[in-house]
Amino acid sequence: MSPCGRVVVVGSANVDHTVWVEHLPGPGETVTARRVSTSAGGKGLNQAVAAARMGAPTSFLGCVGRDADGDVLLALLDDAGVDVQTVARHAQARTGTAAITVDQHGENTIVVAPEANGLLDAEHVAQAGAAGLFDHAAVVVAQLECPPSTVAAALAAARQAGAITMLNPAGDMSGAADLLHLADLCILNHTEAAAIVGPTTDPAESARRLLALGCGSVVITKGAAGAWFFDGGNERHVETHRVEVVDATGAGDAFCGAYAVAWAEGRPVDERLAWASAAGASAVTRAGAAQAMPTRADVESLLA
Ligand code: RIB
Repeated sequence: MSPCGRVVVVGSANVDHTVWVEHLPGPGETVTARRVSTSAGGKGLNQAVAAARMGAPTSFLGCVGRDADGDVLLALLDDAGVDVQTVARHAQARTGTAAITVDQHGENTIVVAPEANGLLDAEHVAQAGAAGLFDHAAVVVAQLECPPSTVAAALAAARQAGAITMLNPAGDMSGAADLLHLADLCILNHTEAAAIVGPTTDPAESARRLLALGCGSVVITKGAAGAWFFDGGNERHVETHRVEVVDATGAGDAFCGAYAVAWAEGRPVDERLAWASAAGASAVTRAGAAQAMPTRADVESLLA
């Protein structure tokens, strides 16, 4: 297999405040947490850490505050081997945060306060591009916890530089449909697919609608039922690994990060799906988001 090309992740970095509860509270309900934890997260940061742990040279374009949380997140990315030269620091904004609830089955709810993530703009993308961010990128992946105009600028610049573009439309999906034509792959779960193209029980129908909006191919994940790939001509399915679920937070990010690395290594679609599925399964066996991202050895041992 050819050496891994560079993976560039454009997206959010958050501090996750997680409370661990027996069951997720309903509207108006107060529940008591069994414990509380604080750790690194944000879909962009998680995907960058996942790509680096899978062995890809990885760069991150994001924005954090000029505060202690920003320092911690930058140090974590650096420790993971992610190039953070293009991470902006905003003096007037706090670093992004997420309030997460995880129940005894590992299911979660997430509320994100974008803060500095919401200030990453097209000018940051242009500056990073001028500094060569996209020049040697094999795969560029973005999510929707940063403004849609920023994501559009990043995917367009990536395309122009000849990189493969991946959009994971997780976050604020209101502008997602208008971005799909910039994505060689749209990678999302069935809830996100329903939010963009309407509900259906058939992944093939969701994919057909997403492809009609202009993306080159689609991967739809559906929890225990597995994941599907469609490109209008080919269809593939991969099973979900049976593992003990501790915390589902970040599973989709592990999936995206591993998929990007497999693609950057030039692997065929079946291997990309297998790696991604194993990475997602590995992530749910550990608590937290960034800290739960699997290494290449974790993925290989599940695949063995
Ligand atoms: O995908 C999980 C992530 O979503 C969390 O780390 C949280 O920060 C939110 O961005």
